[in-house]
Amino acid sequence: MTSLAKPQVPGQIKHYLEFADLTREEYDYLLNRSVWLKNQFKRYETWHPLHDRTLAMIFEKHSTRTRLSFEAGIHQLGGHAVYLNTRDTQLGRGEPVEDAAQVISRMTDIIMIRTFGQEIIERFAAHSRVPVINGLTNEYHPCQVLADIFTFVEARGPIQGKTVAWVGDANNMAYTWIQAAETLDFQLHFSAPEGYQLDNARLSPAALNHLTIYADPKAACKDADLVSTDVWTSMGYEAENASRMTAFKDWMVSEELMALAKPNALFMHCLPAHRGEEVSAGVIDGPQSIVWDEAENRLHVQKALMEYLLCGRI
Ligand code: CP
Repeated sequence: MTSLAKPQVPGQIKHYLEFADLTREEYDYLLNRSVWLKNQFKRYETWHPLHDRTLAMIFEKHSTRTRLSFEAGIHQLGGHAVYLNTRDTQLGRGEPVEDAAQVISRMTDIIMIRTFGQEIIERFAAHSRVPVINGLTNEYHPCQVLADIFTFVEARGPIQGKTVAWVGDANNMAYTWIQAAETLDFQLHFSAPEGYQLDNARLSPAALNHLTIYADPKAACKDADLVSTDVWTSMGYEAENASRMTAFKDWMVSEELMALAKPNALFMHCLPAHRGEEVSAGVIDGPQSIVWDEAENRLHVQKALMEYLLCGRI
């Protein structure tokens, strides 16, 4: 078995650092490809286009879903993963990002990074000989939103023209949803408490055609096709963020908020979640929630993404 991966041509390497890095046409391809790969997976069929290829997974922050889905995904495509973190490698001891990128990309075929600043992953990618994928930065979480869109399309058909309500923080997920709304032509209703609003400097004029900002989460959820939220504080940092808990208390996605959305509206949360904070137990464990499909779909869309970045269209 030989790999279908193509040699990477300097200057033509395709990275996935933010949602806007791919076009609507490329997303159409990836969403279709994800369906095919998911069906293969469910039928226990073997498909090894990345035979003997190596994925480097660099984690500067904790993860369950991202680590598992990338590691399982590359294995299912015939390759394997190497896990690196910043606690017990030289990556956390001051080695320049540019040097690390040169070295790691000479020994591996594709690299996934979870780090803090977007600037770090951009510097890494600029010195990498192989594709780099953003596994979450403070600014963007494109793999998660790709999985969310695939999950919506699977359940309800095309997202074009639909309305997604984002209830909560102006975080990496919110900014990625904004890019997705512009790329895939749907409407995003955003609502966050006073003091936690979006940074206007990060919003392009084109993005504003697909974004409406609401002071009241009820208004944001009205007639939405999908309601989505995220933790108010990162897991493990709750005690340091008591003031956020107070500020966000009216932003919990409850049965009352969901009742304002369309009758067949879906609920998503990228997980991990705090029941009784950003979402009620009744909503996340209720019939409108598709959070488990959403989590599983990280696997299928990232397989499609890795295959596309290394092999092109199959
Ligand atoms: N949603 C998400 O990225 O989960 P992990 O932090 O567990 O990877």
